Amino acid sequence: MGFEKTIACIGAGYVGGPTMSVIAYKCPQYKVIVVDIDEERIRRWNSDNLPVYEPGLDEIVKEVRGKNLFFTTDLEGAVKEAEIIFISVNTPTKEYGVGKGMASDLRYLEKAARDIMKYANGDKIIVEKSTVPVRAAEAISKVLSGSKKYHFEVVSNPEFLAEGTAINDLLYPDRVLIGSRETPEGIKAREEIVKIYENWVPREKIITSNIWSSELSKLAANAFLAQRISSINSLTPLCEIVGADIEEVSKNIGLDSRIGNKFLKASVGFGGSCFKKDILNLVYILRSYGLEESADYWMKVVEINEYQKTRFVYNMIKEMSNTLADKKIAVFGFAFKANTNDTRESAAITVVKKLLEEKAIVSIVDPKALENAKKDLKDVKGTVFYTEDPYEAVKDADAIAVLTEWEIFKKLDYEKIYELMRKPAFIFDGRNILDHNNLFRIGFNVYPIGKKPLTHFEKI
Ligand code: NAD
Ligand code: UDX
Repeated sequence: MGFEKTIACIGAGYVGGPTMSVIAYKCPQYKVIVVDIDEERIRRWNSDNLPVYEPGLDEIVKEVRGKNLFFTTDLEGAVKEAEIIFISVNTPTKEYGVGKGMASDLRYLEKAARDIMKYANGDKIIVEKSTVPVRAAEAISKVLSGSKKYHFEVVSNPEFLAEGTAINDLLYPDRVLIGSRETPEGIKAREEIVKIYENWVPREKIITSNIWSSELSKLAANAFLAQRISSINSLTPLCEIVGADIEEVSKNIGLDSRIGNKFLKASVGFGGSCFKKDILNLVYILRSYGLEESADYWMKVVEINEYQKTRFVYNMIKEMSNTLADKKIAVFGFAFKANTNDTRESAAITVVKKLLEEKAIVSIVDPKALENAKKDLKDVKGTVFYTEDPYEAVKDADAIAVLTEWEIFKKLDYEKIYELMRKPAFIFDGRNILDHNNLFRIGFNVYPIGKKPLTHFEKI
């Protein structure tokens, strides 16, 4: 069967893979080719053991793979065949040179642009799907202008999916944003991208805009979301001291329709590959224009998050008689949130490293993220066990630290867990997902986030 058009995507990661799978699923008339330089990743996309865990993803991939969705390392072939090329490569924080630790590292993006130029056999629309600094489209266009033969129109189409709910977010987005130059070529290219999404997204949810607004909106959206978490987390230590309950505070303020109830869940700190790096990038951009006050404001969101992670461990040390040496800590959850195997920037990385520095023995339980946890901790000194069985993890443990809000942790037999642990038994619930009163009744000393601890210790 002939396809109406071919779309390629460079980068088969957490964004490229699911996004292209949904496009292929919703647009059987298009051929979709996803390319990556990582052979192992592509091998797994072509297997039954996908490199990305997302509820609903396996089913969609099974439905369309080999029909109109293809995963390959053949970049040249994909570039030649496609009229529209999405770039969905990683744009991590730069780890060297100017802007180290703050700016976005655009080398993968530039490499993708250069490869497109090298292999192109005609005009193409290039879609920035990666999150980029504002005015990155100019930088990409500059690289692509090296081609004297063909015209490449760069369009911005930032992705707003959240991991763990990626498929749902892609099928029913709040909005799809497409920015372009406001020239006839820019508007024509933008309309081509609108046509893709129109296959399943209501037209009124497809927003078109100026390209710089589109790029900046992505950074701003992540900064605003993260800012809400840091705002609520900043109040948790006060709650723990004065006896207020952060969940009640969240609910009470979230009922104000001007505030809204989402992203007000206090936690051990936000993780994920986006929030920290995108805010650091925003701060870097603000500083580069001399906007120090605005930069300082957003930097505080990251600082509060670092404080929250550290505070969690310090609290454990303080409450467990000021020493964790040789104590066994069962870490419940290593993924940066539930329903993903992704551990990038997970609060668990910071917490576990600090526990190991204190010479604790750590036993990590996670239903999907152990493979990544092992990679994250491979160079770290200390004793770490990995298991999918929570009952195994808690055997002779002194404490449990809940770091990811996996549903399974709510449904465990905590009477049995209490029996298996050393006494006194501690639970530090970094996600406030457990039934604290019940745990206290069983005999645990319970330390939620932003609530008064429930302990059996007498003050002397
Ligand atoms: P990722 O690291 O999971 O995937 C990126 C992939 O690109 C990797 O597999 C890498 O091998 C590949 N790659 C890099 N350079 C390449 C090249 N020159 N040719 C071919 N392949 C190449 O990253 P991700 O989480 O999918 O994020 C991708 C982009 O999307 C980032 O800019 C990120 O900020 C943005 N984003 C991520 C999320 C998220 O939740 N993960 C959400 C929205 C936006
Ligand atoms: C985020 C944005 O939500 C998404 O729109 C963007 O495209 C990519 O970055 P993601 O990082 O995948 O998505 O997950 P998200 O649901 O935003 O959670 C990020 C972190 O914040 C997680 O560690 C999560 O546990 C934490 N979080 C979230 C809280 O601590 N409290 C909350 O109320 C919400």
